[in-house]
Order: sequence, then structure tokens, then C-alpha cells
Amino acid sequence: MAGVKKLDHLGIAVKDLDEARTFWERALGIPCTHVEELPERGIRVAFLPIGDVRIELIAPMREGSEVSKFLETRGPGIHHVCFEAPAGQATVDALKACGTRMIDEKLKPGAHGAQVAFIHPKSTGGVLVEVAQLPGPGTHP
Ligand code: CO
Repeated sequence: MAGVKKLDHLGIAVKDLDEARTFWERALGIPCTHVEELPERGIRVAFLPIGDVRIELIAPMREGSEVSKFLETRGPGIHHVCFEAPAGQATVDALKACGTRMIDEKLKPGAHGAQVAFIHPKSTGGVLVEVAQLPGPGTHP
């Protein structure tokens, strides 16, 4: 069973990345360690590690981005949970074999050089779930 290993991060959709960071960094004191643009997915993300997990703030760079529809219909808030999946595509294939509905049938590029895929909320009880194969063994940028 090519299952998942641990909770990697919690994705939060925001309208403005810099504005959102103010609360997380200044009020809660969680330093942001990484900001990255993913133009093909239309998003800009910021990572704030806390303990063994990370907060991922996700803001749209353009209309039609991966979070645009979410922000329009539901507003800012918790967007997805991400589990580390060291087996990568084998985990996606195992999910499909269990009848899980995938948004991404194949892994696609994520931040930090990770390869990621999203599971459709219809298969998870309403939660958007991401599985991520991180770039190197034990790396947790
Ligand atoms: Co994510």
C-alpha cells in the first residue's frame, strides 16, 4: 500500500499574500521561510513552518488561477490539507485503484520542487486533499 506518511502542510487561500502574511508572521510569530510563484498554476505561495508542519498561504496571480474559483465562491479560508506521499505516482495510482476520484491523475509540479496531485473533495467527505512527493529524502524546506 503506497500510503501517505505525515501531514505536510495546511493550505489557506488568501486574496493578498503580503497582507495575509502580516497576521501569521507578526501576530502569531511564525516566520515565512519561502515564497514562490507557480505561473502555470496561476498562484503565488508562501510557506511558514511551525513545528513539524507548515502553513501554505496561496494567493491568485491572475484570473482563472487554481484558487480563484474557491475565493469567489467561498472566500478566503482553509483550502486544502496536504500529506507527504514518498511513493509519489504509486500513491496516486493506489488511490485510483481504490476508486478515489482524482483532480490530478498524474503528479504535477508544486512548490519547492515537489510533485503533487489533488484528490477530489467528493471522495474525501468535502476536504480538498493534496498528496506531495517532496524532492529529496528527509528534506523539509
Ligand atoms: Co499545498
